[in-house]
Amino acid sequence: MKEKSFSCDRATMQWSLFLLLLMGQCVFITCHLYEYHFIKEQMSWDEARAYCRENYTDLAKVFDLTDMRRLQDSAQSQTEAWIGLYNITGGDNRRWHWSLPGEEYTENKTCWGAGQPNDYSANPENCVMTGDKWADYPCSDKFQFICYDETTKDNKTFHLIETSVTWTQAQNYCRQHHTDLASGLDQIYSEEFKKLQTSKELWIGLFRDSWRWSDGSNFSFRYWDMDSFNDGLNNRTCATTLLERSGRWSSAGCDQRKPFFCYDDNMILIHEEKTWEEALYYCREKHHDLVSITSLQEQAWLQEMAKNASTPFVWLGLRYTCTLGFWFWVTDEVSAYSNWDSNSTDDVCDVSGAMDAAGEQKWVSKADNNKFNFFCSKH
Ligand SMILES: *[C@@H]1O[C@H](CO)[C@@H](O)[C@H](O)[C@H]1NC(C)=O
Ligand SMILES: *[C@@H]1O[C@H](CO)[C@@H](O)[C@H](O)[C@H]1NC(C)=O
Ligand SMILES: *[C@@H]1O[C@H](CO)[C@@H](O)[C@H](O)[C@H]1NC(C)=O
Ligand SMILES: *[C@@H]1O[C@H](CO)[C@@H](O)[C@H](O)[C@H]1NC(C)=O
Ligand SMILES: *[C@@H]1O[C@H](CO)[C@@H](O)[C@H](O)[C@H]1NC(C)=O
Ligand SMILES: *[C@@H]1O[C@H](CO)[C@@H](O)[C@H](O)[C@H]1NC(C)=O
Ligand SMILES: *[C@@H]1O[C@H](CO)[C@@H](O)[C@H](O)[C@H]1NC(C)=O
Ligand SMILES: *[C@@H]1O[C@H](CO)[C@@H](O)[C@H](O)[C@H]1NC(C)=O
Repeated sequence: MKEKSFSCDRATMQWSLFLLLLMGQCVFITCHLYEYHFIKEQMSWDEARAYCRENYTDLAKVFDLTDMRRLQDSAQSQTEAWIGLYNITGGDNRRWHWSLPGEEYTENKTCWGAGQPNDYSANPENCVMTGDKWADYPCSDKFQFICYDETTKDNKTFHLIETSVTWTQAQNYCRQHHTDLASGLDQIYSEEFKKLQTSKELWIGLFRDSWRWSDGSNFSFRYWDMDSFNDGLNNRTCATTLLERSGRWSSAGCDQRKPFFCYDDNMILIHEEKTWEEALYYCREKHHDLVSITSLQEQAWLQEMAKNASTPFVWLGLRYTCTLGFWFWVTDEVSAYSNWDSNSTDDVCDVSGAMDAAGEQKWVSKADNNKFNFFCSKH
C-alpha cells in the first residue's frame, strides 16, 4: 500500500514537473542564441572592440552563410563595416580549417604525403589537394574538386566537378550549387568519395590562414571578396564586410574609422554545480531558461563556451519524460536537429540531457542528480 502511494505521488510529481516545464515556453518565434547589433558611429577596430565588449559580448563573429544573412539584415546602411576578424602578422600563425562550418580540424599525420605540408613553392601554400595523400598547394593553382551536398541532391552526397579552377572558385561553386567543398575525414575517407576520386588529384575543403576571431572562437567560415582582397599581398589586418557587395569581406588598416557590428550572447555558462532541477530553477529565476539547441550553428556557438566548463558535462534544457516516453526541450521548441552520442540511449526515468564539455561534445543522457555547470538563456 505504501509502495503504491509512493509511486502514485511520484507519477504526480513527474506530471507537475512536466507542466512546470511547459510554462517556460519561448515567447519569440525564433529565440536565437545571439544577436547582431549594427553601430553607426565610426571607430577604429580597437575602439569598436572595446565598445562591443563593454556594451555587448564582442565584435561580431560569423559561423556560416545563415549568420551572414542575419548580420546583413541587422545593418542600417549600405557601407563598409568592421567585423571581429583580424590577421596575426609576423611569424607563422597559420591554422588549418575545414571549409564546412562546424567541422573541426584535428591533426592527423597519416593523411599527409611524406614531408607535407611544406610550402614548397615561392608562394605560401595554404590550400590542400588530395591525390593518393594530401599535399599543400598555392590556392591560385587549379584542380578539379568534389562538393559535399547535405541535402543529398539527386541521391548523391558527393558531386565531382571535372573543371580545373582555383581553390576559392571551387569553394564558391560548391557553396552555390551544393553545401561546401568536401570536408573532414569522415567525408574524404568515405567509400562514395573514393569511388568518385578514382586516381584524380582534387582540391579538398582544407585551407590555412592567420586570421582569428576577436573572441577566440575557431569558426572557419570565410567570405572574402576576391576582387578587393588578396591575403599575403598587404598589411591591412582587420576585416570588414562590404554591405554594398552582398556582404562579402575585405580588409582595411585597423586605425581607419568605420561603423561596426557587435554580437550579444543570449546565453551564459553558469560555473556553479547544480542538479538538473536546481539548474532549471536557477535559470528561470535569474535569467530566462535552460538553453535549447535547434541547429548545428547553435551547437557550434555553445560548444566553444562548453570547453570552458569546470565539470565534464554541461546541462541543457533537454528532459526525458518517462510518463510519456519522449525527450523534449523545456522551452517547448521542436526541431529536427539532434546531436546525441550514439552510446547514450538510456531512456529511463529521472534523466536529462547534457553536453560533453570536451571531445566531440555530443549530447548524453545523465541522471538528474548529477551536479554540473549549465547554460541559461538570458531572454
Ligand atoms: C557603451 O555604450 C555607451 C552608450 O552608447 C557609450 O557611451 C560607451 O562609450 C560605450 N562603451 C565603450 C567602451 O565604448
Ligand atoms: C587518421 O586518419 C586515418 C585515415 O587516413 C584514420 O584511419 C585514422 O583513424 C585517423 N586517426 C585519428 C587519430 O583520427
Ligand atoms: C532516390 O532514391 C529513391 C530510393 O532509392 C528513389 O525512389 C528516387 O527515385 C531517387 N531519386 C532520384 C532523383 O534519383
Ligand atoms: C582553436 O584551435 C586551436 C588549435 O587548432 C586550439 O589550440 C584551441 O584550443 C582552439 N580554441 C577553441 C576555443 O576551441
Ligand atoms: C596576414 O598575415 C600574414 C602573416 O601572418 C601576411 O603574410 C599577410 O600578408 C597578411 N594579410 C593581410 C591581408 O594583411
Ligand atoms: C604597410 O604597407 C604600407 C604600404 O605597402 C607600408 O608603407 C607600411 O610600412 C606597412 N606597415 C607595416 C607595419 O608593415
Ligand atoms: C572562461 O572562464 C573564465 C572564468 O570563469 C573567464 O574568465 C574566461 O573569460 C572564460 N573564457 C571564455 C573563452 O569564455
Ligand atoms: C561507445 O562505447 C564503446 C565501448 O564502451 C566505445 O568503444 C566507443 O568508442 C563508444 N562510441 C562513442 C561514439 O562514444
